[in-house]
Amino acid sequence: MAFDFDTPIERRGTGSLKWDKYQGRDILPMWVADMDFLSPPAVIEALRARAEHGVFGYTSPTEEVTQAVVDYLRERYGYAAKPEWIVWSHGLVPALNIACRAYAEPGEAILTCTPVYPPFLSAPGNMERRLIAVPLRLADARWEFDWPALEAAVTASTRVFLLCSPHNPVGRVWTPEELRQVADFCKRHDLVLISDEIHCDLVLDEPAGVKHTVTAMLGPDVEARTVTQMAPSKTYNVPGLACAFGVIADPELRVDFQHAARGLVTEINAFGFAGIAAAFRHGEPWRQALLTYLRGNRDFLYKFVSERLPELKIAPMSATYLAWLDARGLGVKNAARFFEEAGVGLSDGALFGEAGRGFVRLNFGCPRARLEEALTRMERAVRNNIKVAME
Ligand SMILES: Cc1ncc(COP(=O)(O)O)c(C=O)c1O
Repeated sequence: MAFDFDTPIERRGTGSLKWDKYQGRDILPMWVADMDFLSPPAVIEALRARAEHGVFGYTSPTEEVTQAVVDYLRERYGYAAKPEWIVWSHGLVPALNIACRAYAEPGEAILTCTPVYPPFLSAPGNMERRLIAVPLRLADARWEFDWPALEAAVTASTRVFLLCSPHNPVGRVWTPEELRQVADFCKRHDLVLISDEIHCDLVLDEPAGVKHTVTAMLGPDVEARTVTQMAPSKTYNVPGLACAFGVIADPELRVDFQHAARGLVTEINAFGFAGIAAAFRHGEPWRQALLTYLRGNRDFLYKFVSERLPELKIAPMSATYLAWLDARGLGVKNAARFFEEAGVGLSDGALFGEAGRGFVRLNFGCPRARLEEALTRMERAVRNNIKVAME
């Protein structure tokens, strides 16, 4: 079956966070991480069937829904998770906040590597825990963990490592060796490892042999200190269904998480469960088509930037539909504002931590023609800026 990712879908007037930000202005929204595509037909059909039932009372996860998650973990990653390890939530952001509450006391520290998805930076403070942010380093156009800096930053009162795998915004798929280093570090410093794997099914370089590694699968010792967080929301474009899950093998970690979630995570949206089951059971052909399309968008972006926007730099990325562009060579004070004035709404890198200052993040989960229009607007703005500077 062929899937259409090219036809633009009108999202204005649907309460879209992404589009409403620029209501009434000619600015293409390329910021928050959702895609301008329809969800897989199987998901839409399952939601329609659920709606037709017509009763939307409090909903608990059925055995079938939990089994769909367990089967997904086994079939896609070979991960033999037990149904009782699955802990549902409304989203990874609440889950990250709950994890900070569960595994550290007020005043204790939580470590993460920047630039990173902004809620990683706010979660510790929301819970009155301390954030320690250690920049990743760029070595030979590849983003890496900075081990000496991490060792220097960790303190005796650090309790948690927040890991983003694959990494938003730099698009790295961490290798098993890198993840093993993270796990060893957590073991050495007795940290709970929160592994946000929401982008795991968006590995663009799969044909080149790049594979996502589920952190908890590195071994029983790693699994025993790891809380995995996942959702179909990025891959199948259903974040509005607000349904996510954790995989927590260790009973103590699981109970601590559930206690910290009391009164905060209540029943999950009935449509969320219907959507998750349909996505995992029937969404694979659509996902494969999506990956091919996104790969095409990424390669289009690479080519455009290298030929027509060489002032921007991009390190090779293997996953996600979020490109991390180094705009420090542009010579403008605030690159996000500069491009917004040119009609393209990007995410300001400074929101991803101090290490992101001077960068912008571009969401290319959209029809290719729109991506081309956005890049053309950006190119025009850069050329005009250079011309003005020379006058
Ligand atoms: C790394 C990461 N974690 C979590 C989320 C959001 O998760 P949720 O919508 O389930 O709260 C995003 C969204 O972009 C993300 O990139």
